[in-house]
Amino acid sequence: MSAMKLIFASLALTGSVAATGQGSPAPARSQSSAGTALVTSKATTVPERLFQRDCGVCHAEGKMYPGYRSLEIRGLAQPALAKRRDLDKDMIKAVARNGLGSMPQFTPLQLSDADLETIATWLTARRK
Ligand code: HEC
Repeated sequence: MSAMKLIFASLALTGSVAATGQGSPAPARSQSSAGTALVTSKATTVPERLFQRDCGVCHAEGKMYPGYRSLEIRGLAQPALAKRRDLDKDMIKAVARNGLGSMPQFTPLQLSDADLETIATWLTARRK
């Protein structure tokens, strides 16, 4: 098990990083439509909440989030997934199921096909 997977597993056990109050609230969070109310409840079908629950720990807007930070370092003009307009649905699903770099893969037990479909649809809804 890689270090990142261990970290991810412990994040999953504690439910949500935000709920533990680690670190101080990020100023960037209040400016982000996707990053405002971080939800700890597992039972939701609301797309934005699913994204916050499963992806927000790393992809909320702000340099302290490893997904955001990695994409920023990679040189993307918009490192916040929830604000991207260039994401492809199949690509999102493939990344989630296979992992990418330091991003862990999500098994169907960790994230159902239905929830992943909802998240991928929501993330590509702003596509122009
Ligand atoms: C444990 C942290 C973590 C979690 C949780 C996470 N990601 Fe990631 N994600 C990353 C990192 C880090 C990268 C950058 C990987 C790289 O470039 O090496 C990334 C990259 C991506 C990319 C590629 C973007 C691009 O333009 O190349 C997509 C798409 C993505 N993540 C979707 C998701 C989705 C959807 C979820 C929730 C189901 C999710 N991620 C959850 C850390 C995470």
